[in-house]
Amino acid sequence: MPHYTSLGSIPHKRHTQFRKPNGELYSEQLFSTEGFSNDYSLLYHFHPPTQIIKTDTPVNVAPTIAEEKMLQHRSFEGFNIQPKKDFLQSRKPVLVNNDCHIVLAAPQESMKDYFYKNADADEMIFIHEGSGKLHTQYGTLAFAYGDYLVIPRGTIYQIHFTTDKNRLFIVESFSPIRYPKRYMSKYGQLLEHAPFCERDIRTPKDLKTFDEAGDFVIQTKKKSVLYGLHYAHHPFDVMGWDGCCYPFAFSIHDFEPITGRVHQPPPVHQTFEAPGVVVCSFVPRLYDYHPEAIPAPYNHANVDSDEVLFYVKGNFMSRKGSGIERGSISLHPAGHTHGPQPGSVEASIGKGGTEELAVMIDTFRPLDLGPGARDSEEDGYAWTWLAGR
Ligand SMILES: [Fe+2]
Repeated sequence: MPHYTSLGSIPHKRHTQFRKPNGELYSEQLFSTEGFSNDYSLLYHFHPPTQIIKTDTPVNVAPTIAEEKMLQHRSFEGFNIQPKKDFLQSRKPVLVNNDCHIVLAAPQESMKDYFYKNADADEMIFIHEGSGKLHTQYGTLAFAYGDYLVIPRGTIYQIHFTTDKNRLFIVESFSPIRYPKRYMSKYGQLLEHAPFCERDIRTPKDLKTFDEAGDFVIQTKKKSVLYGLHYAHHPFDVMGWDGCCYPFAFSIHDFEPITGRVHQPPPVHQTFEAPGVVVCSFVPRLYDYHPEAIPAPYNHANVDSDEVLFYVKGNFMSRKGSGIERGSISLHPAGHTHGPQPGSVEASIGKGGTEELAVMIDTFRPLDLGPGARDSEEDGYAWTWLAGR
């Protein structure tokens, strides 16, 4: 991400001699994105981050497609995803395309005997339930309900939970996840009209350096195959780092809603973007204040994007009954017109505000249904716009 940060000890000048107390050199690593053409960080390891002992038999974790080429509104009950002890085994892809995988997970236990590196995708992990710490080679991020954790691809991490009932909503993006470009100044500052600013972004803290030899497994995902790579030294052996590529946390509760006299378009809720993917935060806010305003959204023909809504908390103003609950995911595919349910428009008139909380993912290419969709679908959602249903 674009803001320069530094943690731990680093040499005065990059690519120069930086020595341990015993006179040996630290091992410098350039962690770059988009080749060498975008944000990067420089890390200083106790040991070369290249020393592999052996590799386990690869495991294919590509999601099996439950359904593709469909045109129907769908709804999925996220809490039907069964909890699993292990973090990686708990991840269930619900909706997938070539730009992103939208995943639900209910891990019960912390990662203890391995580390994880997603070499395919940047990850955005939204914490729906649970709390804990994300340990990385850059330091630690404490997290709790409502946090987005954004983890650049290639980051080695380990999640420790302080709870056993954890619910995660994850987007794996095969391109870098960034702040919306229209909110950035030419040189990378979040502009005054953005719904959040640098003070809301939490960067890694408490860099602990482990100078340990042994056998450390980093489960590394590449092209949807998991490789158990055994390294000769602890991966969190970083003495210091600096740069603009690192994991960070942002709480949805720190998103300041943009409101107006009449209904504001969905982009006012935008939080992150990646090629082919948009992330929006719907947060508690005052409703439109024109005396004749209709706070409920208009019907819209989203001809260019599939819309995915993850219901975090509260009653959603466009829905009325219909089986949408906390933890539900709705999919409104491009090609349909959709809008408020019967009665929702009238019911919204005169209301002063909403307590709804939701995360929306729009994708510019159609989504297929993954195994998590097959396990959690609510029947009949497509017909809930008919009066009386
Ligand atoms: Fe919509």
